[in-house]
Amino acid sequence: MAQHITEVQHWLQNAAHIAMLTGAGVSAESGVPTFRDAQTGYWARFKPEDLATEDAFRRDPACVWDWYAERRSNLQHVQPNPGHRAVADFQHRHPGRLTLITQNVDGLHQRAGSPGVLALHGNIFEDQWLDACALARRPQDACHVGQAEPGRPPRCAQCGNMVRPAVVWFGEMLPSAALAAAEQAAARCQVMLVVGTAGVVYPAAGLAHRARAAGAQVVVVNPEPTELDEVADAVLRGTSARLLPLLLDF
Ligand code: APR
Repeated sequence: MAQHITEVQHWLQNAAHIAMLTGAGVSAESGVPTFRDAQTGYWARFKPEDLATEDAFRRDPACVWDWYAERRSNLQHVQPNPGHRAVADFQHRHPGRLTLITQNVDGLHQRAGSPGVLALHGNIFEDQWLDACALARRPQDACHVGQAEPGRPPRCAQCGNMVRPAVVWFGEMLPSAALAAAEQAAARCQVMLVVGTAGVVYPAAGLAHRARAAGAQVVVVNPEPTELDEVADAVLRGTSARLLPLLLDF
């Protein structure tokens, strides 16, 4: 492994542009559950179709709203870990050299100080309207949205429109600007680091293929095998909190 780390660090030192795609695994060492861990993952305990789709929210807004409210509350008690901080520190030492693309909605990269995070799946701490509201573009711009209560998502007091978490649910389009910027970063990078993701959700996982097709060296950092190992030039079996500080220490 040490030889691989040295080799990958050499690739990174020679890369003018680095792209990094992260998933739930980079927040695992902050104590945030991942989605597909067989024992502790969210999808080991809940059905995604019951919690992470628009249909689920329309069917049972109270259940979905409360699940996100509980996740938001839990995230108040966690901190960025050495992996998040290593990325942010690198970005500040080498401005513009690393483009950070994340599937995570937990805001931990942003709290660690990473600039310009491309949050492909949104941000759990932000809200949006379930249906367009004629009175205000966003709930936070409205002066007449009721307070959230357990089991009751906030509504617009005038048009009755419900507020939902500003995260991308299954079957929904990703934010077009963030996705376009991520695709551009994948196409122009010399090295793509794929960290803490099972690599099973597209279009995010497709960024590794796009980088590879454009001639980049793809590096997977994960303690377990992933769907993207096959496109990787190097696979580093280990945790992000241990490996990212080593890889980005220059
Ligand atoms: N360091 C690095 N990787 C880790 C660590 C760690 N400490 N702990 C776990 N992992 C790895 C797991 O081995 C797994 O490959 O992180 C990955 C987490 O995979 P998932 O739980 O599937 O999360 P992710 O790939 O981010 O899911 C993508 O799916 O449900 C949707 O919208 C959700 O953004 C999410 C998307």
